[in-house]
Amino acid sequence: MSFDVVTGAFGYTGRFIARRLMAEERPLKTLTNHPARPGAEDIKAEVAPLQFADRAALVDSLRGADVLYNTYWVRFQHGRVHFGEAVANTRVLMGAARDAGVRKVVHISVSNASEDSPLDYYAGKARTEKIVRESGVSWAIVRPTLIFGTGDILINNIAWLLRRFPAIGIPGRGDYRLQPVAGEDVAEIATWASEQIDNVQVDAAGPDTMFYSEMIESIAIAVGKHPRFLYMSPRTALRAVGLLNRVVKDEMLNEPELQGLMSELLVSHERPRGTRRLDNWLLSSADTLGREYASELDRHWR
Ligand SMILES: NC(=O)c1ccc[n+]([C@@H]2O[C@H](COP(=O)([O-])OP(=O)(O)OC[C@H]3O[C@@H](n4cnc5c(N)ncnc54)[C@H](OP(=O)(O)O)[C@@H]3O)[C@@H](O)[C@H]2O)c1
Repeated sequence: MSFDVVTGAFGYTGRFIARRLMAEERPLKTLTNHPARPGAEDIKAEVAPLQFADRAALVDSLRGADVLYNTYWVRFQHGRVHFGEAVANTRVLMGAARDAGVRKVVHISVSNASEDSPLDYYAGKARTEKIVRESGVSWAIVRPTLIFGTGDILINNIAWLLRRFPAIGIPGRGDYRLQPVAGEDVAEIATWASEQIDNVQVDAAGPDTMFYSEMIESIAIAVGKHPRFLYMSPRTALRAVGLLNRVVKDEMLNEPELQGLMSELLVSHERPRGTRRLDNWLLSSADTLGREYASELDRHWR
């Protein structure tokens, strides 16, 4: 029987996709370098390494697969790893998928990816989309906004700050919008996309669009805090984040990420396909949200 492959099935978005496929009783394989991530113990998948240097081994690990769900990307440039390398690795992966005879690739991208974007993340993701479209494999591109759910980093860390400090910095006026989408919705949209005969590109966005300051308020309500909002210039906010970074030994939020947020790149211009609401999830996860800091550098770089 054929199986599906998820890159990073024990990672953040990959988990939601893997659980959805397990619910559909699809045999699963994952390509990952983190086969034992805490919180992913329920995911049953054959494991092979996610490596791009040995192309023949990569082709072998994909042979017999029906759908490849690709979540691979790097969140920011760090050390010697940069977006260009992630684009090149995506090209290797797509070439391997074609040579392995994979029927369909479902590529997880990001809302408002554009080759013209001044932000390397969004421009890089647009380049990966082009690679997918030209791969010779039937494809679907799913473009999430901000994904929320268990294991999330940004919202969890805002909750972490709110639990510890009586005030929170708001870059600018906090009046830029975002449209968060549940990880479960992203997984549903991704599996729907895998079933389409034609190639498709769709956003994955939730039902609610809110201002950044409103999202902070919702998180504060969930964790039972009444923070004072300190409105500050983006530069001052980034300086404050820089100080926090030293404490948590992480990159909480960097300048291009803040620019993307303030330019409303995490808002979709399509009819929302997601149905789950951020507020419901915040309230249902209030007990655990922000208890522990979630470190991107710990997850991927150490
Ligand atoms: N998180 C969001 O809110 C969000 C929003 C919009 C779009 N997206 C897109 O959704 C996809 C998945 O994002 P995610 O946040 O869920 O990521 P993730 O689970 O943390 O990582 C996804 C995959 O990329 C690999 N990876 C991540 N950082 C790496 C690094 N520094 N070096 C080598 N491999 C690395 C992981 O490898 P391991 O399996 O070895 O960990 C995993 O296979 C990405 O394409 C992202 O652009 C995410």
